[in-house]
Amino acid sequence: MKEQLESIRSAALEAVKNAISEKEIEELRVKYLGKKGELTAILKQMGGLSAEERPKMGQLVNEAKQNVENLISKRGQELKLKATELKLKSETIDITMPPKKREVGKLHPLNTVLDDMIDIFQSMGFDVLDGPEVETDHYNFECLNVPADHPARDMQDTFYLGENLLLRTQTSAAQIRTMETRKPPIRIICPGRVFRADEVDATHSPVFHQIEGLVVDKGITMCDLKGVLEQFAHEIYGKDTEVKFRPSFFPFTEPSVEVDVTCSECGGKGCRVCKGSGWIEILGAGMVHPNVLRSCGIDPDVYSGFAFGIGLDRLTTTRYKISDIRLLFENDKRFLNQF
Ligand code: DAH
Repeated sequence: MKEQLESIRSAALEAVKNAISEKEIEELRVKYLGKKGELTAILKQMGGLSAEERPKMGQLVNEAKQNVENLISKRGQELKLKATELKLKSETIDITMPPKKREVGKLHPLNTVLDDMIDIFQSMGFDVLDGPEVETDHYNFECLNVPADHPARDMQDTFYLGENLLLRTQTSAAQIRTMETRKPPIRIICPGRVFRADEVDATHSPVFHQIEGLVVDKGITMCDLKGVLEQFAHEIYGKDTEVKFRPSFFPFTEPSVEVDVTCSECGGKGCRVCKGSGWIEILGAGMVHPNVLRSCGIDPDVYSGFAFGIGLDRLTTTRYKISDIRLLFENDKRFLNQF
């Protein structure tokens, strides 16, 4: 029995010494010291020994158990330490590594310029309205005094969606919708997308943006138009910018003007941006035609008004020196990240 004990003990010690994981150690503990373990089992055989031998053998078994237990706890601790070290090593954070870049969204240049324009007009008391992009012939042309044989009504220029339905070619339709639902005094702007069947090139896109403006009240004159638009141009381009009102024609205004500002690129000397003229056209405007007021149920003998339509894309390309309007619509991040 002594020999049997000895062989179990040395096998146990050897196995514990060679164990390489905490799990293995635990298995060995169960194998030798557990309830059904080999060293526990040997104690159960002691019933066959004489009363004299029994305590001696008991002592030997206890010594062996203690011996194995000590080694198990020592080896267990060693392995635990080793495992912790390994874990720490593998989880080390290299604080010198550059962090992952987080992409932050920003405003599209068109929106930046639009926000500025809205600020300027709001500070002058204008409300900001919205209008539908799909319009009827009635709002887009008829009520705006655009005659049936006007070239703008041609299929070549307008995207028709049906007999009477089209993609608005101008935000001016908002004038009519506003005068139908509001009574003077009216002071509104309506920014939005407009659509024309233009050939695409560096300065033309089938989709572009306008900001329509409308003021209607008693006693509104051309002086009000000039005052408001001059102030707008000075706030956008700076106080030194000269503003020129040039006679023009629009079916829905009489008289009509186009407004030019001195080229911000060359200061008026003439360059590539202003095509040598020194001026850049930024908007069309005029006094609301009596026919238009009348078609909206407003008496032109009592009220008068002015309207304007500003091209947002031109304003944006000249401000940021963008050479091709198509860049505004392509959503190329290399371009957009420059703003
Ligand atoms: N709707 C015109 C266009 O698209 C721009 C315009 C001109 C709007 C004169 C106006 C205006 O309100 O009075 O070319």
